[in-house]
Amino acid sequence: MDISSILQGGYQHPLSRSWQAKRQLTKSMFMYPIFITDDENASDEISSLPGQRRWGINKLESFIGPLVQKGLASVILFGVPMKCEKDPSGTPADDPNGPVIQAIKKLRSLYPELYIACDVCLCEYTSHGHCGVLHEDGTINTEPSVQRIADVALNYAKAGAHCVAPSDMMDGRIKGIKRALIDAGYGNKCTLMSYSAKFASALYGPFRDAAGSAPSFGNRKCYQLPPAAKGLARRAIQRDVVEGADIIMVKPALPYLDIIADAAELAADHPLACYQVSGEFAMIHAGARAGVYDLRTMAFESVESMVRAGATLILSYFTPEFLDWLS
Ligand code: PBG
Ligand code: ZN
Repeated sequence: MDISSILQGGYQHPLSRSWQAKRQLTKSMFMYPIFITDDENASDEISSLPGQRRWGINKLESFIGPLVQKGLASVILFGVPMKCEKDPSGTPADDPNGPVIQAIKKLRSLYPELYIACDVCLCEYTSHGHCGVLHEDGTINTEPSVQRIADVALNYAKAGAHCVAPSDMMDGRIKGIKRALIDAGYGNKCTLMSYSAKFASALYGPFRDAAGSAPSFGNRKCYQLPPAAKGLARRAIQRDVVEGADIIMVKPALPYLDIIADAAELAADHPLACYQVSGEFAMIHAGARAGVYDLRTMAFESVESMVRAGATLILSYFTPEFLDWLS
């Protein structure tokens, strides 16, 4: 056998296998998406997302406390209002008494070390279920959309969010939010994480169930990216870097590892997030239930691939499990 043929000597031991990764998984790489609803005592199971619930503000301590004990470093909040009156501009999004702003304040006071990000979008709060403000013909009206999204982001920052993360995909919103943050004195107090390359994916189904955010007509293809669009994704990433994003995100994650790798080059000086979305999580669970693989082994393989592609931060519904598995 030729000397140059032998690779196995380099990874025959679990420790030498671990050295084959450029970066190791750590607990702080995980950001946990949580759903907050406006029934204060809610703890509603979400049938399409195993183990996930819609939480009321009064249940946050018993839910989050044990996770913080295990090393939970960050969460991203999604508001799921049930009782509010939705309107065309998504007024309830930044209601000071709404679930998101209340949850930010509560979590800041309960867990001063916990990093709190907030998803910023209008779809959970608009009567039409789209992520922006619409013209009469149902198309996106960009300028008022950006204005409204920037107002909401600023109000989350004022409530104490460490990070605002717009998932709406309106053109120009990163610039609009950054300007609003700076002008109000929050330029140095709040991180702006852009869902830069967010694709129009079939994998958001369980989330839309959970959040009641499916559009009432049409779809999101005029603002979320076509799955085959590598060039557009690269342009969106570069645009958001120029517009002032502090963190770039790719979403979904596993079917878009090439885009994560592209982002790692195009935004090499930024942290790079990816979102293992609801459908990816549900799919891994469904496969495990069907006996295709072991849940834990597959969960590790999925996130190790994301880190290998270049991600430094992973939004995942598996976060509670990884806090155990990485202990
Ligand atoms: C809403 C939003 C979605 C997700 C995050 N923010 C759904 C969508 O765009 O339709 C998906 C998250 C997930 O599937 O876990 N703007
Ligand atoms: Zn939306």
